[in-house]
Amino acid sequence: MAITWNNTIKQQFTPFDISHMKQITGNSLKLDDYESVKTWAGQIWTQVDNGYMPPGNPWSPQWKSNFQTWMNTGMPLGDADA
Ligand code: HEM
Repeated sequence: MAITWNNTIKQQFTPFDISHMKQITGNSLKLDDYESVKTWAGQIWTQVDNGYMPPGNPWSPQWKSNFQTWMNTGMPLGDADA
């Protein structure tokens, strides 16, 4: 099954991640918003791949792989009820 925003990626951002990054960026990086994550995907990838984000709680290899695959397949939205 293809990795989509709705079936995989949005679950990888916690409420803590979402609120902190909104606060730090003055509401421009919204990790609960598909369009925002698409816009920032390259920078998000750099941060999570090198383990800087989320601070002290880096993504697992599986989560990194999910995000990279999603980027490389055109960042599909998927079904809302997936
Ligand atoms: C565009 C990419 C990103 C940039 C440039 C960025 C930058 C930053 C900076 C400068 C801080 C404050 C300093 C720090 O605590 O180290 C911060 C905090 C934080 N970031 Fe990011 N971040 C990015 C993406 C992300 C992503 C993708 C996540 C989650 C997967 C995330 C989760 C957090 C959290 C949870 C904090 C608060 C840490 C705390 O206060 O304990 N960030 N980010």
